[in-house]
Amino acid sequence: MNDACGKIILFGEHAVVFGKPGIAVPITNLKTTVEIELSDTFSYSVDRVLYEEEKDRLADILDIIFFSLDIEEKDIHISIKSTLPISSGMGSSAALSIAIIRAASDFYRLKLNDEKVNEVALECEKYFHGKPSGIDNTVITYEKPILYKDGEPDFLEIKPFTLMIADTGDKASTKKQVMKVKENYDKNKEIIEKIGKVSQDAKLALEKADFKTVGTLMNKNHLLLKELGVSTKKLDLLVETAIGAGALGAKLAGSGGGGNIIALVDGKNKEEVKTALEAFSKAVYVGEIK
Ligand code: PMV
Repeated sequence: MNDACGKIILFGEHAVVFGKPGIAVPITNLKTTVEIELSDTFSYSVDRVLYEEEKDRLADILDIIFFSLDIEEKDIHISIKSTLPISSGMGSSAALSIAIIRAASDFYRLKLNDEKVNEVALECEKYFHGKPSGIDNTVITYEKPILYKDGEPDFLEIKPFTLMIADTGDKASTKKQVMKVKENYDKNKEIIEKIGKVSQDAKLALEKADFKTVGTLMNKNHLLLKELGVSTKKLDLLVETAIGAGALGAKLAGSGGGGNIIALVDGKNKEEVKTALEAFSKAVYVGEIK
């Protein structure tokens, strides 16, 4: 049995596609698990009903992985289980690829190291998202907080903290959102620069465990993402609700257009923020960041 965790982008989404720094953290309490067993013929099972489109995507991902790993013998059964919500900015696509790659590595005794796992996962991410920065597959492969820039992770030493993750219930396409920002790149250049600066400042605040500043920077990052045109009324409402209930800061997380918001909470305001978000969100998750 092999698994891969979820992730949240704390700072710098979209800007990271254009070579600016972004910060991502693993969410280790949510996982995708994959098991490969010998079978008479190729088959797979998933713990939920897949749409036709999703079945096609899964078949394509398996092709990319088998091709990249030079695997020809495929009389296997692949069983996939996940507690990660899909298309909501929590890295479900990268987690799926990574759990399959790891399961294949075990089953075929390939002994892939993290670097190779990450490299194949990036190929899968290109299929899913067109022009990915690589931040999702990297944070999930290494399961460590990272500052990511130009394809390179810088591992961060940070004190544990808690995030409330609230789902808008609206599914977002990362590919479409990234295209939208790219099409207006000239207009967006200055905003992208500012987001990069926020990530740099956030790295310092996180390393000092200055969570008050981290929260303020999250609010700033959200406003910049709003200016970039990737927020929605529902995302803004959830962000404002979290801040109103006492969160230290809140922002959309991931490509926007739907998906999740994250709110930074401490022991004192955790329950209030959760209850306030539950009034507007279909699903509120607690993310313990270590
Ligand atoms: O996959 P999501 O929705 O968490 O967002 C990915 C983050 C982007 O910066 C928007 C794209 C990327 O490849 O970095």
